[in-house]
Amino acid sequence: MNSLKFGDKVSLQRIEDAGGTLTVFDSIRFEGFEIRRIYFLHEMRDDSVRGRHAHFNLTQFFIAICGSFTVDLIHKGESKQVIADSSKEAIYVPPVTWRVLSGFSPDAVCLVVASETYDEGDYVREFDDFTKIP
Ligand code: TYD
Repeated sequence: MNSLKFGDKVSLQRIEDAGGTLTVFDSIRFEGFEIRRIYFLHEMRDDSVRGRHAHFNLTQFFIAICGSFTVDLIHKGESKQVIADSSKEAIYVPPVTWRVLSGFSPDAVCLVVASETYDEGDYVREFDDFTKIP
């Protein structure tokens, strides 16, 4: 975990056989990361824009389990654009990262693996407030 940088793609374990593929996200691979919630984003339109916020404490991984989309991230003054287009990898989004998800393909499904349960108080929804976080 500590060696991961925001926007890094982590390869997921894949178990392939004649009947298909089984892909595993196992938190045992990420020291200090416990899964407390999963949810998925789907049925987006091609002009949908999601995110546009940060979190104080939440760590997340995004997985394009189907289709593709663009993830724009800002962390500690550094910007990064990542294309999520493979179910083979998870994109690391640490706390205090502004994220914008857009450019969804019609079939896009974004699985989000999160370290905390839902807490609206953990959101930073105004970009101005985000830029003021020390
Ligand atoms: P939000 O996190 O803003 O979605 P996105 O970043 O994908 O655009 O959440 C959208 C709405 O759903 C908001 O009203 C909060 C609510 N919500 C929950 O009630 N529980 C959850 O676990 C999540 C992620 C969102």
